[in-house]
Amino acid sequence: MNDLGPVAWPPAPITTERLVLREPGVRDRPVFIDLLASPDVHTYLGGPRTRDELERELPEVPERWPGSFVVELDGAMIGQVLLRRATEHHRPAAAGKADLGYLFLPRTWGFGYAAEACAAALDWFDGAFPGEAVVLTTQTANAPSMRLAAKLGFTEVERFRAWGAEQWLGRRAPVPPSG
Ligand SMILES: CC(C)(COP(=O)(O)OP(=O)(O)OC[C@H]1O[C@@H](n2cnc3c(N)ncnc32)[C@H](O)[C@@H]1OP(=O)(O)O)[C@@H](O)C(=O)NCCC(=O)NCCS
Repeated sequence: MNDLGPVAWPPAPITTERLVLREPGVRDRPVFIDLLASPDVHTYLGGPRTRDELERELPEVPERWPGSFVVELDGAMIGQVLLRRATEHHRPAAAGKADLGYLFLPRTWGFGYAAEACAAALDWFDGAFPGEAVVLTTQTANAPSMRLAAKLGFTEVERFRAWGAEQWLGRRAPVPPSG
């Protein structure tokens, strides 16, 4: 995966009804460790990393790049929404496209926060890259992620087998540039 390409970054923090999307900062590091070390978060993502390894390897300021949003609720990070360019995706339908990913702390699941945050990130993307489609890959067994993808307007391109499981490749049609 690569970053999205030339775009003004970071945008001003994006405010939704309940959340703020912004660049990662020093204060988010412990939450990144919680996210990346969580077995629940990584059930369908190849397993978690160990806290020791993350404490050693994570930079003091979590990596910043265009398309990487921290999602904040009441002043604290609860998850991350990522838009990257899938330059090396091995499915031709996804290669080179912008690819959406999302990770939220388990205690925040079931409140619609991921849907609210992803919709805002996609709105930002539509403004920054008018007329571009977005793709998303998730395991078909990951029911909450499959429901979220459908809610966000992704429709099935294909199912394929990779990383020891059935994967779903979805695509969100480009939103026509406004004006
Ligand atoms: C995938 C993931 C982000 C989904 O989180 P989520 O909280 O279930 O997703 P949503 O934000 O869409 O919330 C939906 C739920 O909130 C409920 N909800 C409660 N209040 C709500 C509100 N005000 N608005 C909308 N939904 C609300 C919905 O009814 C729905 O419940 P259901 O799943 O039981 O039907 C989360 O499971 C996760 O982080 N998983 C680990 C990482 C992962 O697997 N990522 C996928 C790889 S890209």
